Amino acid sequence: MCGIVGYIGNQKASPILINGLIRLEYRGYDSAGISTVEKDSLSVMKDKGRVKNLYQLKGINDLEGTIGIAHTRWATHGKPSKENAHPHLDNSKTFSVVHNGIIENYNELKKFLTDHGYTFYSQTDTEIIPNLIHYYYKNESGDLRFLQAVKNACSDLKGSFAIEVICKDYPDNMIVVRKDSPLVIGKGETENYISSDIPAILSFTRNFYLLNDLEFAVLTRDNVSFYDKDLNIIKKNTQTIEWNASSAEKDGYEDFMLKEIYEQPTAIRETIGSKLNEFSKCEFEELKFTKEYLATINKIYIVACGTAMHAGLVGKNAIEKLCQIPTEVDIASEFRYRHPLVDDKTLCIFISQSGETADTIAALKLSKENGAKTIAISNVIGSSITREADYSIYTHAGPEIAVASTKAYTSQVMLITLLAIYFADILDRNTTTVNQLKTDIMNLPKKIDETLKLSEVVKDFSKKVYQEKDIFFLGRGIDEAVAREGSLKLKEISYIHSESYPAGELKHGPIALIENGITVVGIMTDKNLVEKTISNIQEVITRGAKTLVITNQNVDKNMFNMTIKIPEVNPFISPILSVIPLQLFSYYISKEKGLDVDKPRNLAKSVTVE
Ligand code: AGP
Repeated sequence: MCGIVGYIGNQKASPILINGLIRLEYRGYDSAGISTVEKDSLSVMKDKGRVKNLYQLKGINDLEGTIGIAHTRWATHGKPSKENAHPHLDNSKTFSVVHNGIIENYNELKKFLTDHGYTFYSQTDTEIIPNLIHYYYKNESGDLRFLQAVKNACSDLKGSFAIEVICKDYPDNMIVVRKDSPLVIGKGETENYISSDIPAILSFTRNFYLLNDLEFAVLTRDNVSFYDKDLNIIKKNTQTIEWNASSAEKDGYEDFMLKEIYEQPTAIRETIGSKLNEFSKCEFEELKFTKEYLATINKIYIVACGTAMHAGLVGKNAIEKLCQIPTEVDIASEFRYRHPLVDDKTLCIFISQSGETADTIAALKLSKENGAKTIAISNVIGSSITREADYSIYTHAGPEIAVASTKAYTSQVMLITLLAIYFADILDRNTTTVNQLKTDIMNLPKKIDETLKLSEVVKDFSKKVYQEKDIFFLGRGIDEAVAREGSLKLKEISYIHSESYPAGELKHGPIALIENGITVVGIMTDKNLVEKTISNIQEVITRGAKTLVITNQNVDKNMFNMTIKIPEVNPFISPILSVIPLQLFSYYISKEKGLDVDKPRNLAKSVTVE
């Protein structure tokens, strides 16, 4: 949640900061602000609403400072308002702070500071941070006074934070620190950058420093020094990022979401990479699993949130069928509090596009504590989850900017299917099925291209139903997992209430909701189940439903209001094709309703709070 940017160099900071915020706006967008070091004071300019509102603020173009911090907020404490927007100053206006995360003990700290004479002007948890820094600063002296004060304040904080601090008395320094919230440092020539994610500052640099929890960085124009939690100096090397800057641009598409939907053939090709060769074993260089180890595993957990969890459901099907290892899929926020039965015979796989989702990271830490081996699947190199896990493997979808996940989902499905193949190869299981699947995966990108050509048909149907209040999604087996993803996509960006159900479950209650004119979307790609699902769709047609069917089977088109025929493909990977019309369906409905597709209300791209 929330995006933070920082700049220290020789150029005017404010345009660079606002530009960075615009690229990070997908992370949070209820208010925004910047703070720069001006001649002898700290400036703070902020407002409610979108980042572009900052351009209207009086005096913003007159800021001369070459050091600054900036924030686009996704409120957790205190409503979206100018007062609650970041940056926040301490009472003496010596420190300016932006913060991503939640300070869990802020009430206790607020009381402590109030008792010591501090006053608070916002309802945020964040405002205690600059004041706490000031509280310690008063009693410090020496060269490291600023750093020592920040460090002391951080030692008191419970919760999650990525923080940038500037100080009126240190006009050539910026201090940053993180714990369970993302923050990267981009290294330039005589200038340095801070951002919540890499793509936002890729046009300035490809060289990044990554911070671990409770490591402090002190930035000057020419240098970045690093300290551990006890302020011992540590050395860090930069990592060079291969993504190109244009992958974070719209490239002529109206929205990032549409662009990302169309990037799926490339994302899948890149994710397959060199892991697969029809005639040899599936290779994951990063994993060194043996037959002996896999034979000791008695259960696999796949843990994730939202769309990533839906990709996990597809992974469960592949792992159980190809490897015969019992696999459970869990929602991270539930898993972490339900005392799951995890031990050294459990393998836990965590899926997170951003690699920063708080619940998924906490679930991973818990699994490690209980002795399990952990694998992280992420789209972001160096993200928190990949630093915590025993092993990390990557989807190569490129930056995903739209809040609604599309290409990350299909890439996750691809990667976890490849992982299942890798395990099956090691275990020598299901050789014929696995070899056939390898061949079919190699042909998949072409079929995604074909599926994308169906976009106009989907658009036509979307125009007919965009004013609906409720839409149902039905499927059986693997199609049920896709139904869930279709339903989530629709809710997220069209604000239409929708439900997904296993098709056979409908008559156990929810069918009571079906009435004349209601829209039902059926997904049918498994030839063994298609007849069964058709019967269930027939039951809703009888009760007056309008139906859209997405199938790769030969069905009687006259039965349904609209049938979208997608290419036939191996059932293990059919979700990668069948989800595409559903992504387009929610996209076109959202467009028809005139909504902000890329930044739906109340949501943020990366959920770094519980
Ligand atoms: C997807 O469209 C959603 N915005 C959301 O469900 C997302 O998948 C979830 O928050 C998990 O994010 P992650 O993959 O970055 O962990």
